[in-house]
Amino acid sequence: MAEAVASAIRRAGNPGRSGHALSLRSARDLFSAREKLAELFGAKDSSRFVFTENATAALNQAIKGVLSAGDHVVTTSVEHNSVMRPLRRMIETAGVTVTVVPAGPDGVVDAGAVAAAIRRKTRLVAVVHASNVSGAIQPVREIARAARRAGAYSLVDAAQTAGSIPIDLSDLPVDLLAAPGHKGLLGPQGTGFLYVREGVPVVPLIEGGTGSRSENDHQPDFYPDALESGTPNSVGIAGLGVSLSWLLRRGVDRIREKEMELLEELIEGMRKIPGVTLFGPLDPGRCASALSFRVGGMDPAETGGRLENRFGVLVRAGLHCSPNGHRTLGSFPEGTVRVSPGPFTTRKEIALFLAAARKIR
Ligand SMILES: Cc1ncc(COP(=O)(O)O)c(C=O)c1O
Repeated sequence: MAEAVASAIRRAGNPGRSGHALSLRSARDLFSAREKLAELFGAKDSSRFVFTENATAALNQAIKGVLSAGDHVVTTSVEHNSVMRPLRRMIETAGVTVTVVPAGPDGVVDAGAVAAAIRRKTRLVAVVHASNVSGAIQPVREIARAARRAGAYSLVDAAQTAGSIPIDLSDLPVDLLAAPGHKGLLGPQGTGFLYVREGVPVVPLIEGGTGSRSENDHQPDFYPDALESGTPNSVGIAGLGVSLSWLLRRGVDRIREKEMELLEELIEGMRKIPGVTLFGPLDPGRCASALSFRVGGMDPAETGGRLENRFGVLVRAGLHCSPNGHRTLGSFPEGTVRVSPGPFTTRKEIALFLAAARKIR
């Protein structure tokens, strides 16, 4: 992936803006990465995948592009700030109302409770696929179905699952799906996407040059140009394309299997350490690859610092940009330490991590 980025930066032409060789090469990189996204997520039409800078940009585009005054939104108590903050802005400035459905103490929301919160004016149901704090997987299929039945659109934040839990949009009735390129998709930072199902009306947040219909000062209404204005991060997207090829070859189902095995060892090992508190469903079948914990009364930042400085283990400590997620788990305001095995993590590394946690304890 790094090689692809380096190679792309040496020959970066502005895609779709010229007919010269470098512009065409960049355009091909973009097209190829888009096609791979469609393949990975089971969508027929790759043009419905709009490249963004990250998941936050995708979520903002979805939320602000779908909602208008008088609309109602249903969301959950385990969302990331990249959903909660745009919603807060919409409440305060755009006349939107929001119902936050509380998840259980394990961080899982009940699909029935979400369905019951949908009203006549509900335009959007926004739910995270899996919590980035506890890993808890949410019943997105049932939630998306309930939204569709009620005539509302569903938005899934797949930041913690894209590339590590299979998502098949040909079978999942989700209308909008947002993800970053740099997490489970293994791409570079500064990449991400928003998938918009055909027929879902989204007003662009940013309008401008697309290299298409240049004679007209109206934003094109066809995808991806409708939501993709300005020079894209073609260098980063070239890198993302290579990561997507790797994921397609490896298979997300195999990655999921491996991460579940590692998570199982991690949970079982951590359960045996006295004084360690674990948060979330604590069941690899119900969790994305993330485990939140605390060691005794130690500040999570202190635990994280010791893990790095004494054992070379890099984790994230604190509130993980999801204060509501922590309130739900009872870990607010200190937060937790989160450890997340990935596709390249080994069993030996899990054993080293457990030994480190025991020593810190
Ligand atoms: C659940 C969730 N949503 C959204 C985001 C925002 O992603 P990005 O930093 O790519 O904007 C994250 C980032 O960690 C996340 O975990």
